[in-house]
Amino acid sequence: MKSEYMHWAKTHVGARYNIGASGVANYPLAELPVSLGELEITGESYYGYAPLQQAISDHTGVPVEMVFAALGTSQANHLAMASLLRPGDEILLEDPSYELIFSTARYLGVSVRRFPRRPENEFAVDPDEVCRLITPRTRLVVLTNLHNPTSALVGEETLTAVGSACEKQGSYVLVDEVYLESTFDPAIRTAATLGKNFIVTNSLTKVYGLSGLRCGWVLARPEVVQAMFRLRDLFESIPPHVSERLSVVAFRHLGKIRERSKRLMDENRGVLRSTLLSRDDIACFDPGFGTVVFPRWTGGKVDDLADTLLEKQETSITPGRFFGLPDRFRIGLGGETAMFREGMKRLCGALDHFGGRSPADPRAR
Ligand SMILES: Cc1ncc(COP(=O)(O)O)c(C=O)c1O
Repeated sequence: MKSEYMHWAKTHVGARYNIGASGVANYPLAELPVSLGELEITGESYYGYAPLQQAISDHTGVPVEMVFAALGTSQANHLAMASLLRPGDEILLEDPSYELIFSTARYLGVSVRRFPRRPENEFAVDPDEVCRLITPRTRLVVLTNLHNPTSALVGEETLTAVGSACEKQGSYVLVDEVYLESTFDPAIRTAATLGKNFIVTNSLTKVYGLSGLRCGWVLARPEVVQAMFRLRDLFESIPPHVSERLSVVAFRHLGKIRERSKRLMDENRGVLRSTLLSRDDIACFDPGFGTVVFPRWTGGKVDDLADTLLEKQETSITPGRFFGLPDRFRIGLGGETAMFREGMKRLCGALDHFGGRSPADPRAR
């Protein structure tokens, strides 16, 4: 079992102008006010390191007994699904979706049915459609909020409707919220409090540029949290404690880290709108927040475009084929702005070239 997407991502992340990545540029350790004395190699982290459990609880507003600190949203998603699902179960997964959720479910021996998030509907979740697809075999409905790859937001009303339909069948809703905080809107709450059958996953990876910390979490009812702790015993005795300590420090300084992320994304969104999104060969849902957009290109084959960009322009975009929509590509808004601006220039130049236009063509503006 393997993930084509993850392999592709790991072998393309090094491009000089990586404008396809979904997360904010790495936050440097040197900018985190931390002293060696605050760190330790091994500590009391058997079933959760108390200060980190508390920091996640404070950050999310969810009681500490509903918190499971995981290694990134990747492990959070895997453990959440593994603790709820048995081989032969069925899940309902959004389409398009983050490929790792699909491959993890298949790895667990689960059958995957899809519900569409349609471009003509701005990739919204249609709660009636999801509810119609729920059957007695459906153990879990899975979606991302914000949506990867489009940043579409799923509102509380929709989530609650899906949650109630699941509750009637005794099933759960898993909401991957790894991009949610990139709305920078404190009024948008985690779905964890919407009902007992909601399970939420998240991390400091994407919005805060802290991927290497692997500070992730699951929010779920306490029995599910306990089941995950026991399941984790099978493949990890204790988490890396240095990382737990650093994560506590990161939570303390999250305001400053958030400001940097917002600044980068605001600047890059301006560049995106004045370049790529103003072209007439590009159609794009632009929600005005989120770390990614997922434009459609009508001028040629996206895979050829992506290959040429990488080979000749040191520039990487994420081809839409990984999301089942090969006429689209994903652009990430979290990079350093000088890099993002140059990457955009190279991308637009390549679009001109493929579409047979000269860069001076006014339609290319
Ligand atoms: C929807 C979604 N969930 C989870 C992850 C992985 O997150 P983490 O780096 O915190 O493991 C990604 C990474 O791209 C993602 O897009």
